[in-house]
Amino acid sequence: MTDIVQLERDLTSAVQAADNERALDDVRVTALGKKGSIAELLKTLGTMSPEERKAKGVLFNGLRDRVAEAIAARKKTLEDSSLDARLASERVDVTLPAPEFPRGTIHPVSQVTDEIVAIFADLGFAVAEGPDVETDDYNFTKLNIPPEHPARQMHDTFYLKPQKDGSRPLLRTHTSPVQVRTMLAQKPPIRIIAPGRTYRHDSDATHSPMFHQVEALVIDEETHLGHLKWLIEEFCKAFFEVPEIAIRLRPSYFPFTEPSMEVDAQCDRSGGALRFGQGGDWLEIAGSGMVHPRVLDMCGIDPKRYQGFAFGFAIDRLAMLKYGAPDIRPFFESDLRWLKHYGFAALDIPTLDAGLSR
Ligand code: PHE
Repeated sequence: MTDIVQLERDLTSAVQAADNERALDDVRVTALGKKGSIAELLKTLGTMSPEERKAKGVLFNGLRDRVAEAIAARKKTLEDSSLDARLASERVDVTLPAPEFPRGTIHPVSQVTDEIVAIFADLGFAVAEGPDVETDDYNFTKLNIPPEHPARQMHDTFYLKPQKDGSRPLLRTHTSPVQVRTMLAQKPPIRIIAPGRTYRHDSDATHSPMFHQVEALVIDEETHLGHLKWLIEEFCKAFFEVPEIAIRLRPSYFPFTEPSMEVDAQCDRSGGALRFGQGGDWLEIAGSGMVHPRVLDMCGIDPKRYQGFAFGFAIDRLAMLKYGAPDIRPFFESDLRWLKHYGFAALDIPTLDAGLSR
C-alpha cells in the first residue's frame, strides 16, 4: 500500500517538475506507457485472488486516472505558457516609426536625363531612341562623313568584329545616328530629342569611354537659326533654373550641319563657384547647326522644301556643371558614398511646375 502512495507522490512530483512538453511526455511514458510503472502494477492483478483483485483494481485504476489527469493539467499549463512566451516575443509595436527608407538613389545622369526630357516634352518634343551598336552608315556616312573623311579620326571609334558582308558595326560615337533613323522613318514636321549612351576611346577627368548625349532635331518648312537660339536659351533657363541667361553661338565645324556652331552659356566663375545666367564668363555646353542639305537628302527629306537644326549636349557634362561634380570618372564607379552624396530621392520626379531639382 505504501508503495502505491509513494509511487503516486513520485509520479506527481515528476509531472510538476517537467518544465517542457518533451520532459512531460517522458514522464507519461514511464508512468502510463506499455512498460510504465502503472502498467506493471496492473499486470500484477492477474496473479491475485478475486477479492484482492477487486480491492487493488480500484486503487490501481484510481492511481492511473489521477496521474493521467495530472499530466493533462500540466500539459495545458505548459502549452499556455509557451503560447504566452511566443506572443511576447512576436509582439509588434505598431506605434514605432517605420524602418528607414530604402537607401537607393537616382543617379545624377538619370536625374539630368529626366530633367531634360521634362523640359523638351513641355516644348512639344518626343523622345526618340536608337541602338548603342550602330552601322557605319548611320553613325557616319549618312551624316555626311564618308569613309576616309578626316572627321572620323576625331571620333575615337570602338569597332566591333567585321560582319560577313565586310561591314563593321560600331558603338555609336554620338546620338546623331538617331537623327538619321528618325528622318528615314518619319515625315516632317519633326521635333525629337534622343538621349542615350555614346562611346569613344577616351578617358580622363572629363572624358569617359561611355558617356551620355542628348540630341535635339527639328525639321520643318521654315526653321531657322533664330529658332535654334531661342530653343537653347529656353532650355538653359529651365535647366539651370535661372530667370535669364545669355547664349553665344561660335562658328565651328560639324560635317552634318551647315552652318555649325558651338553653343556657349553665360556664367560667372568668380569666387570659385560656377553660376549660370550671370557674370561675364562663357562655358561651352553644346554643338549645333542647321542640318546639312546633303544629310536631309540622304535621309529622304527634300532639302528644297525643308530645313532644320540639330544640337547635342553631353548629359554627364551638364550634370557635372549643374551639380558641381568636378570629375566624370566617379559617375561610373558605383561608389555608394558618391551615389549617396550626388544621388536624388527616388520619388522626386522632375517636372517643370513642381521644380526640376527641388
Ligand atoms: N554629334 C556631335 C558630337 O557628338 C554634336 C552635334 C549634334 C553637333 C548635333 C551638331 C548638331 O560632337
